[in-house]
This record gives sequence, C-alpha cells and structure tokens, in this order.
Amino acid sequence: MAAKALQRQHSDPLCAYIYDLDSLSQHVQAVVECLPPQCEMFYATKANPALPLLRTLAPWVHGLEVASGGELQWVQRHFPDVPVIFGGPGKLVSELQHAVESEVELIHVESLLELKRLKAITEKARRTQNILLRINLNLPEMATTRLTMGGVPTPFGMDEETLQQALSMLGSAAYLKLKGFHFHLMSHQLEPDRHLALMQAYFRRVRDWEKDYGLQIEQINVGGGIGINYVEPGQQFDWPYFCGKMTDLLEKEAAPEWCIRFECGRFLAAACGYYVTEVLDIKHSQGEAFAVCRGGTHHFRTPAAQSHNHPFEAMSLTDPAAQSQTGLHHQAVTLVGQLCTPKDVLARGVNVPVLDVGDLVIFTYAGAYAWNISHKDFLMHPPPVEYFLGETMT
Ligand SMILES: Cc1ncc(COP(=O)(O)O)c(C=O)c1O
Repeated sequence: MAAKALQRQHSDPLCAYIYDLDSLSQHVQAVVECLPPQCEMFYATKANPALPLLRTLAPWVHGLEVASGGELQWVQRHFPDVPVIFGGPGKLVSELQHAVESEVELIHVESLLELKRLKAITEKARRTQNILLRINLNLPEMATTRLTMGGVPTPFGMDEETLQQALSMLGSAAYLKLKGFHFHLMSHQLEPDRHLALMQAYFRRVRDWEKDYGLQIEQINVGGGIGINYVEPGQQFDWPYFCGKMTDLLEKEAAPEWCIRFECGRFLAAACGYYVTEVLDIKHSQGEAFAVCRGGTHHFRTPAAQSHNHPFEAMSLTDPAAQSQTGLHHQAVTLVGQLCTPKDVLARGVNVPVLDVGDLVIFTYAGAYAWNISHKDFLMHPPPVEYFLGETMT
C-alpha cells in the first residue's frame, strides 16, 4: 500500500527504500525479551546506521556496537546516553584516542599492535579503559560449518596462540582492564544447533583460559552472525528455540558472573526493510526474458554481495484485461537494474505469475547491508526515495 501511494506521488518511475519501523520495534523487542538471563543484545550499527532505525532500536537493545571511527562519532552524537562498544579491524590511533577520551564502555582489541597502541594511549592520557580481546579460535570440530570470520586464516582478531603474549603485555598495562573475550566466527548462521555448539566451544575455552592463566572473566561477547534465510524466507532462524537451549547451556557451562553479549545486525534489521523498484522495460534476448527495473545494485548491493537471487514479491498494477504487448505470464525472468554492467542483477531466472512495465517489484529483507553497502555514485543515477513508515518526528 505504501509502495503504491509513493508511486502515485512521483512523476518518474518509483525506486524507494521503505522501512517499517513498527515491525522493527516489535521484532527487536521480541528478540530481546526472549534472551536468557545473563545475556545482553547490542545492535551492530554497520548493518544499517540510518537514524530512524537506530532511534527505533535503541530503546530495546542494551547498547550499540560500532566498527569504525565514523560509526562511533555518529552514535555518540545522536545517542549520548546509550552504551557503546567499539570493535573492528584497522582502528586508527586517532580513533582509539577518541574512544578512550570519550569513555566508550569497551574496546574490542583486534591485534597485538592495537593492544600496544592502546597501552600507550591510555598511559599518556592516564585514563583507564576496559577491553575485550578478540580471539580467532581454532575449532577443528567445527570445520564442516560455514566459519567465515574465524577458525580459518583471517585478518580478524588474534590467533589463540598469541593470547599468552597479549596477557603478558596486559600485565604491564596499568590503565587497561581485561574484562573478557570477543568472538565472531560466523556470519549467515541459520542453524540454531550449530550456533549452540559454537557457544559451547566459546564457554569451554574461556573456562580453560580462566584456569590456565588465573583470569576472572566478566564478559564474553559472542558476536552477531545470526543469518537471514534469503533462499527460503519462510524458514528463518528459530530464535525462541535457540534461546531456550541457550538457557540450558548457560546453566551447564557458564560461570554465573559472566555477562554474555550478542551484537547482531542482520537478524535485527533485515526484515523491516523493502527495496521497491518499478519495471521500466521488459525485453527478450536469445530466448530469455529480462525486466529492467528502476535502480539496481548501486542502490541494493545485497544480491550481488551475497550472490543470491533476492526474495521479492511482484505487485501487478496493470489492468489484467488490457492487451499488454510486453507483459509476462507465468514465466521465468531476470530482474536487472539500470547499470551498464551484466553484474547488475537482482534475481536471475525466477518465475513470476505476471509482470509488466509499470508494475512494482518489492524486495523483502532489505533492511540490513543493503543501501548502506551499495556503490551509490556509480553512473550518477539519483538515489532511491527513503520512506520510514511509523516514524515520529522529534
Ligand atoms: C565483529 C562483528 N560483530 C558483529 C557483526 C554483525 O554481524 P551480523 O550482522 O551478521 O549479525 C559483524 C559483521 O560483520 C562483525 O564483524
């Protein structure tokens, strides 16, 4: 409905992001309410830093995770009272300095060199900073799962073997307080049982380190990585099941004083966003049908980034009785954008009941890693309209 109304308001064919803020707030509230005791949920700002989304999320989550100096300044400016944690690779010295001076709750340290820099910064400023060490675990038992961010050679975090060295550096760092460990080994997790196995491995490893190195850990950040099923949108990650089993796991494996922190992005923000595009042209080439849509991957990079056919619904607006020269009926079509590259594909060879010029194609699950990861300036097409349903002006 919102898409049709927007289309009527624009003289050119429509291209828009629509975000349903009410559904975002309900979803985040439900996710947080389900969390087991001793768990917290932070939002990974990188998934979508748009202010209306952050304003909607902020009252429900325990805080915001940022992964760059830019994100840090953004959330500090707009949410001065919300707890902020600062992770991510390649932090600049100036960004670390700013983080220390502005008292971010925690910095997730990614390397021995970063630890050394932070030690020097905190000593010079004589300011205490709480940190987590981000560790890339060796988990041979997980080798068959889709470990994309760790467990394999990666630029993220420190290998387990460097832990001893990091701890001895910390021994002489009067202003750095080790609060715990950070892990983010996997993205696109769709299977709760596999994720639980990963949590168990984290907890066991931290217990071993507590024993081996005489540590008293307060916090384990288990990262984000809960996926969205773009291929079968009806089969999403079963969060209530996961949380139920996680409660049992915590009882068995976790120390009662540990705070377990999640920092999810995609799972929180994806479902509230829609990328809506109007069909400009329908063409046939060497036996295949193509629908050229307003916009493309420079607005909506998600399908290209994930190499998938993005789920969508076609909204037919044309009169079924009209004798269309172009319309498709129960036919496979490739949905492309306006860019002069064969890579500008949003979904390839997908069946549509009906599709015609002037119809709207509504891509679902477009609220995370979508507009904000897109190469917006390519070809100098105008940006999509952004529309936030349920936004209250402050
Ligand atoms: C360290 C870290 N934490 C959290 C996230 C958020 O991940 P997701 O959006 O998959 O939940 C990422 C994503 O890359 C990450 O690298």
